Amino acid sequence: MPSKIKKSAVQTRLQTQTRPPAQLPKAQSEPLQTPRGMRDILPQEEIFWKIATSRAAELSSAFGYGYIETPILEHKSLFVRGVGDVTDIVQKEMYCFKDQGGDELCLRPEGTAAVARAYINHGMLNLPQPVKLWYLGPFFRRERPQAGRYREFHQWSVEVLGDEHPILDAEVISLAMAFFRDLEIPVTLEMNSIGCLECRAGFKEELAKFYTPKRELLCDSCKVRLGSNRMRLLDCKEPQCEMLREGAPQTTDHLCDKCRDHFIRVLEYLDEVSIPYNLNTQIVRGLDYYNRTVFEIFPKIEKPEAANLPKIPESNETENSLSDSAVSSGEEKASDEKALGQQSALGGGGRYDGLVAQLGGRDTAAVGFSIGLERVVNVLKTLKPASSIAVPRLFVAQLGEAARRKALLLWHTLRKDVPVVAALSKDGLKAQLEIANRLNVRFAIIIGQKEVLDGTAIIRDMEAGIQEVVDYNRLPVEIKKKFAEEKKAIS
Ligand code: HAM
Repeated sequence: MPSKIKKSAVQTRLQTQTRPPAQLPKAQSEPLQTPRGMRDILPQEEIFWKIATSRAAELSSAFGYGYIETPILEHKSLFVRGVGDVTDIVQKEMYCFKDQGGDELCLRPEGTAAVARAYINHGMLNLPQPVKLWYLGPFFRRERPQAGRYREFHQWSVEVLGDEHPILDAEVISLAMAFFRDLEIPVTLEMNSIGCLECRAGFKEELAKFYTPKRELLCDSCKVRLGSNRMRLLDCKEPQCEMLREGAPQTTDHLCDKCRDHFIRVLEYLDEVSIPYNLNTQIVRGLDYYNRTVFEIFPKIEKPEAANLPKIPESNETENSLSDSAVSSGEEKASDEKALGQQSALGGGGRYDGLVAQLGGRDTAAVGFSIGLERVVNVLKTLKPASSIAVPRLFVAQLGEAARRKALLLWHTLRKDVPVVAALSKDGLKAQLEIANRLNVRFAIIIGQKEVLDGTAIIRDMEAGIQEVVDYNRLPVEIKKKFAEEKKAIS
């Protein structure tokens, strides 16, 4: 009998599927963690990510920037040529591998070099200049993890390519500052100019004269920088190097006339739109492609609440502590505490007029910035409790099978006007209202057997604990009204 054969086949399959799995060796059955310095973004952070990313997208469009997305993987040579082979990023922090075809690829540590490559590849030189682009996505640097510093992080960036006018420096800076103003994050803008290749040649000589007699007192990295990357001597955060910096030559004293004029005009434009800034000659940036204007943006916040500090994943401890043999966990803890005191930049950028040519394109002036979204989210979390910024939501609760069916329908009707949550698989009303409380919803609709029969529903104000019975057909109108009043009350 075919049905019998079919049934027994299903049974056999079920039996094989439900057979208990063979006992795994202990080491393999232990739960895996994310790679060290990388983290999961969970629903409790959703509201903060939404606020930051939607503001970034809205501002980019409002300022007329076009969206670009480049691959997460690029050829290693892009970053060696673009970011610079003596930078920390290229020397120590990239995740690179050879693929099966022998290509040397890297997870992108930043996006500017890739955008410059795309500008060349897609003939954007032939478009009306300047070309204005924005992007948002993950980046990877194998840095030592600490508060606000991850091995995978996200940036919102804008790039303006094809024009050297100083108004564009002011434009991108004003766009970054508008982002922080809209999010009500108090920040300070630190400005500097590192000049062009010509003014920098003389400046590097001055740095060598100043630092060579002090060489033995510098940290190990700065001893190397003295030979190959002198500008970075100015922004080393090691205490002994900070102390030695007293009296060091300043970039702004060595600008040629053109670079000085360019910088003064950028500052005048910022004054024009009332954007305050500090001149900070220690801002030199860690990537080689910069020239002229460079800037960083710092949070103006006392000390983030310890409770809100991002947790550093402890995973892969063995593997990483082996490869990071110089880094003891004690040292890492100390650097966490240091990060609390010395605030990390929320964003940074500048002009990079030589990058497109360096990557094989024509001479193309350009300017841009990137903002680190993990850091923005961390600051938002310290400033605004999730409950104060959460969008008010509605919960649909039901009692009995007929009510459950009605609730499913209602969910789909009401979601067009308000965000709706429900726990339709639950039977008891108490359990459902507990979930509604946990989810911090503003109102709940309750439908039981009685309500199904007499065509009504209960609206419960979850804050006040007050309930009212309304006609089922009037629910959309009543709910819309309540949420509109709520919105008015919040604003
Ligand atoms: P950057 O200064 O290397 O610049 O990075 C910009 C921002 O990304 C930093 O200020 C910080 O907020 C965030 N960030 C960097 N590294 C990490 C990390 N390990 N963990 C968490 N956040 C991090 C650039 O990337 C340039 N591409 C900016 C630019 C665009 N210049 C011109 N156009």
